[in-house]
Amino acid sequence: MKIQAINGFKDILPETVGRWQFIEQQARDIFERFGFQEIRMPILEKTELFVRSIGEATDVVEKEMYTFVDKGITMRPEATASVMRAFIEHGLHVQQPVQRLYTIGPMFRHERPQKGRLRQFHQLDAEIIGASEPRIDAELIAMGKMLLDELGLNVSLELNSLGCPVCRPPFKERLVLFLEQRQEALCDDCKRRTRTNPLRVLDCKKPSCRAVVQEAPSLLEVLCPDCDRHFAEVRTALEELRIPFQINRFMVRGLDYYTRTTFEFLTANLGAQAAVGAGGRYDGLIEQLGGPPLSGIGFAMGLERLALLMEQQDNRSIPAKDMDIFVAALGTTTIAFAGQLTHALRQQGAKAAIDYSGRSLKAQLKQAGRINARFALIVGEDEWSKGEAILRDMQTQKQQPVALSGSTEELARRLLAMVRTTAAP
Ligand code: HAM
Repeated sequence: MKIQAINGFKDILPETVGRWQFIEQQARDIFERFGFQEIRMPILEKTELFVRSIGEATDVVEKEMYTFVDKGITMRPEATASVMRAFIEHGLHVQQPVQRLYTIGPMFRHERPQKGRLRQFHQLDAEIIGASEPRIDAELIAMGKMLLDELGLNVSLELNSLGCPVCRPPFKERLVLFLEQRQEALCDDCKRRTRTNPLRVLDCKKPSCRAVVQEAPSLLEVLCPDCDRHFAEVRTALEELRIPFQINRFMVRGLDYYTRTTFEFLTANLGAQAAVGAGGRYDGLIEQLGGPPLSGIGFAMGLERLALLMEQQDNRSIPAKDMDIFVAALGTTTIAFAGQLTHALRQQGAKAAIDYSGRSLKAQLKQAGRINARFALIVGEDEWSKGEAILRDMQTQKQQPVALSGSTEELARRLLAMVRTTAAP
């Protein structure tokens, strides 16, 4: 029986990898424009880290984590908790009070796989730690928007505030009272959530629950003065940066660490998986994990979703991978020389390919075309014995003789110079 990949775990094949690399490169470029530095953390962390940060009563912790129960470790379902753990462990704030960190990598959640939803997926994650001004929120959101714009993706932005430990608990009580009176209209999950995580009922996608929460009290109306001011200033700062947004008072993130500003970048083009990226403020999290009382805000975008959207919109041609030169050795006597030359070409920085099979010229040129080689160097036995080879421009099909004089290194340098001058646009 053939062994296949696990359901929800996907290979990213060479034909798609170009798009992924393009997205990652754009992200790195933009994040660095905003002063972010890369951080890389392990994939496995102590389970407790996620329980204490994401929250015990969240779907992620309750049913989606890949946990080695006997070892007390879990494959990270997201990056924020790990970034905070590393930040605290290494006392990064001592070196620099405000840290701007980004990371790119795989995350694991045992969800039902479907289009744009996987069990191993990849996030671009950006976090600003140690700054609490509303303009920071706007700047971070603007960075996310800039990336989406530069990828050519048309995505809308929704914004909400989840308040703080001052204004959220009394709101929660009011909401629970409201929901308790309407239990019969709620789905089974939301009946349970009324007790465990009532805010989650607000963003249940089931039509019956949506109808109920339309009438529910709004947290935005009962924010404490500090949260209210913060939210107003974030909105103003976004307007100043000309970032369009909509307020969505029903947006509740699936992770418990959020306070104040939360946001989602949404698309209508991925079926049920509307969120391309999402994030928010988590002002109490670092302290809760045993660190200093510093605030933070961040977001993560799903690489699979970005790649799918780009593919659908097909609005960016990803430059095809090409090779500089294909060395076609004909006959058995030329192969050693061709091998040395190819090695020297690579040492000089050329993308060079060679075929050792001794196939016909026609077959080798076909191969050169398949791998997008700009040039082929044809080393035929007769020419080689006369100290010559033929350089063929694969686009124009023009051929010119090349003297095989000097050392292989000199020849490689000369060839590369010819290739680079001719290939320049
Ligand atoms: P999240 O909303 O759970 O937030 O995930 C962020 C993004 O990751 C989603 O918008 C989606 O694009 C992608 N994503 C999530 N789950 C899957 C999945 N199963 N398959 C494919 N893509 C997925 C967080 O993870 C927070 N840590 C974001 C954050 C950073 N908040 C503050 N800082």
